[in-house]
Amino acid sequence: DDTVVRRDRFSGGPARGFLSSLDADRRIFEADLAVDRAHVVMLAERGIVGDDVAGEILATLDDVEAAGHGALPDGEDVHEAIESAVVSEVGPEGGRMHTARSRNDEVATCIRYRLRDDLLRSVETALALRESLVESAADHTETLLPGYTHLQPAQPTTVAHWLLSYEAAVTRDAERLFDAYARVNRSPLGGAAFAGTPFDIDRDRTAELLGFDGVVRNSMDASSGRDVLVEAVSALATHAVTLSGLAEDLILYANRGFVSLSDDYSSTSSIMPQKVNPDTMELVRATAGDAVGDLTGLLTTLKGLPRAYNRDLQRATPHAWDAVDDVTAASEVAAGAVATATWHAEATTPAAGEGFSTATGVADALAMAGLPFRTAHEVVAAAAPEVEPEDDVATVTARVDAAAEAVLGESLWEYVTRDAVTRVLDPAESVASRDSAGGPAPDAVASEVKA
Ligand code: ARG
Repeated sequence: DDTVVRRDRFSGGPARGFLSSLDADRRIFEADLAVDRAHVVMLAERGIVGDDVAGEILATLDDVEAAGHGALPDGEDVHEAIESAVVSEVGPEGGRMHTARSRNDEVATCIRYRLRDDLLRSVETALALRESLVESAADHTETLLPGYTHLQPAQPTTVAHWLLSYEAAVTRDAERLFDAYARVNRSPLGGAAFAGTPFDIDRDRTAELLGFDGVVRNSMDASSGRDVLVEAVSALATHAVTLSGLAEDLILYANRGFVSLSDDYSSTSSIMPQKVNPDTMELVRATAGDAVGDLTGLLTTLKGLPRAYNRDLQRATPHAWDAVDDVTAASEVAAGAVATATWHAEATTPAAGEGFSTATGVADALAMAGLPFRTAHEVVAAAAPEVEPEDDVATVTARVDAAAEAVLGESLWEYVTRDAVTRVLDPAESVASRDSAGGPAPDAVASEVKA
């Protein structure tokens, strides 16, 4: 399906632009040159193509590279255009470059070759984000932060504990991206159209020349398999969803005055002079939608495709490029925003105790004094509706004591010291008391930062 004659026969119709991937293939221009070179070297080493012709082809490929993608002749795709350029320079002998291969294994190899670099870039970016989360956490082990469930005040925590919760997720994201890399890093070259070739090629050699870890063995799988793209885009979409949560939290915290993004990561209003808006985080949040869309588009395109090669695959590839570019950019911006954000303890500290968020600590104190936890929960739950925002510690303590009388028929002080209750009603003490492994206590968090 790849001869010059047939190509010319189909070159000029109204569907020409629709068929062509030449513009989108800019992304794999260098990859295709690398694949061509490796293939030609292998063909020469195996005596399938003479050294002279191989030398001429390789020299022409250098010229093609120097001239750039923009100088390519028209073609249905970059593979055809580069081959045309070689043939027009070398003459018909240049056509030997396409011995024992097809554009089907060629494009599959180009995609994996390029995606390898892109995935490594995305892993590096995720690791940089991880670093900025850890560094910022080290500065904020004692900066109180209200913790929410259902977006309602739940229990006090710290900025560092919140940051490290994302650090853990980003670490898994990076692992998933790296896992995807391992499976992408296999060479389909030599699968030919799908059915192998009678030439005595050396697939391991081209894999080695292109830096792959091995070959995609079955030639039909080699030309048609795109599941590795799904895996990569899935890992990217997963990371994007992590980033969207981080962005959403920062938007909410900025709304409450807990944090300010630096000017570099903020935007202003064209009419409202006072505005400093977290636009970058809103765009990070939105990127998850695009990445999920790319994953869905890719899966939907692949679903039900018969073996072996079908042109649908041409439209599958750009989803991977879009996802890797968008998500890597979002990850980079998130890292910068976290690293340069300013936390306002004067706002987070009073907020950390809002909504009787220390209630669980009181129940824990009663349970630690010997009361069954469920009973302790009942006592504090009875007090909770009575607790007012303006109550001081002594007033809250009295309300809990009154609830104990009502629920247990006994004073609280039968079970626990006044001091123990006073202590856990302080948000900072409440946080410090929760020193279980991975918990928010400054000591527990500091040891995580060091680990
Ligand atoms: N441009 C195509 C793609 O991206 C590769 C060419 C294979 N074309 C063909 N007619 N067999 O998938």
